[in-house]
Amino acid sequence: MNANPTALVVVSHHRADSLTAHVGDVVAARLKEAGYGIDLLDLRAEGFDPRMTEADQPDWGDRDKEYSPEVRAHMARVLAADVIVPVFPIYWNSVPALLKGWIDRVWNYGFAYGRSKPRLAGKRMLWLGLAGAGDGDEFAAWMAETLDRVLREGISFYNGITDSAVAVLHDAEGEPQTVDAEGNLTLGEPLTGDARAAHYDALDRRAETHLERFLGLQAPQTL
Ligand SMILES: Cc1cc2nc3c(=O)[nH]c(=O)nc-3n(C[C@H](O)[C@H](O)[C@H](O)COP(=O)(O)O)c2cc1C
Repeated sequence: MNANPTALVVVSHHRADSLTAHVGDVVAARLKEAGYGIDLLDLRAEGFDPRMTEADQPDWGDRDKEYSPEVRAHMARVLAADVIVPVFPIYWNSVPALLKGWIDRVWNYGFAYGRSKPRLAGKRMLWLGLAGAGDGDEFAAWMAETLDRVLREGISFYNGITDSAVAVLHDAEGEPQTVDAEGNLTLGEPLTGDARAAHYDALDRRAETHLERFLGLQAPQTL
C-alpha cells in the first residue's frame, strides 16, 4: 500500500442533514484514523450536475477526448485515490441519480475504460449503500445480488478495479419496514429516545465494520 494512502469518499445525497451524509462523515473519520488522507466529495455541496452534457459525452473515435474542466477535475480526484467509497441511499435497487450521473460523466471512455492498460487498476472500491428495507426483507438477497452485479461487476470490475465490494446498511429508516412476497409494506413503530439513538449508533458501527473488513483494518480496542 502507498505510504500515504488517500481515500475518496463520495457522498451522494440531496440533503446536508441526511443519514447518508452522516455515514459519509463516520466513514471518513474511520479512514482518517486508519491513516488515510481524506478527500470528501459531497456531490450536492459541490453542486455536481449529474446530467450528461455534450462536452462529456464519449467520442468513440477519440479515447483521448478532452472532457469538460469540471469532469477533468473529478477524474484527477479519482486518479489520486487509493480507495474509493461511494456512500449513498439505495434508490430502486440502485444508486441515486446524483451518483449515477457522476459515474456517467466522470468514469468516462478513455479515462476509466477503453484502454488496454486500465488507469484505475490497483485501486480498491467499497460501495456503501443505505437501505430502508430490513435485512429480513423478502427482497434483501435479491437486492444485494442486483447491486453486486451492477456496481461491483458492471462498474468497478469493468473499469479495472478488481478489489471491490458492495455493503448494504439495512434499516436506515427510523422505523422498521419490510415488504412481504405479495409486496405489502409493513411499517413498525417509529423509534424514539434511547432506542432511536441506539439504532443509529449500531448503524454507524456497522458502517465502520464493513470498512474494517474490506480494508483489513484492525478494529479499535474495546475496553
Ligand atoms: C426514490 C426512493 C427509492 C428507494 N428505493 C429503495 C429500494 O429499492 N430499497 C430499499 O431498501 N430502500 C429504498 N428506499 C429507501 C432509502 O434507501 C432510504 O430512505 C435511505 O437509505 C435513508 O437514508 P437517508 O435518510 O440518508 O435518505 C428508497 C427511497 C427513495 C426516496
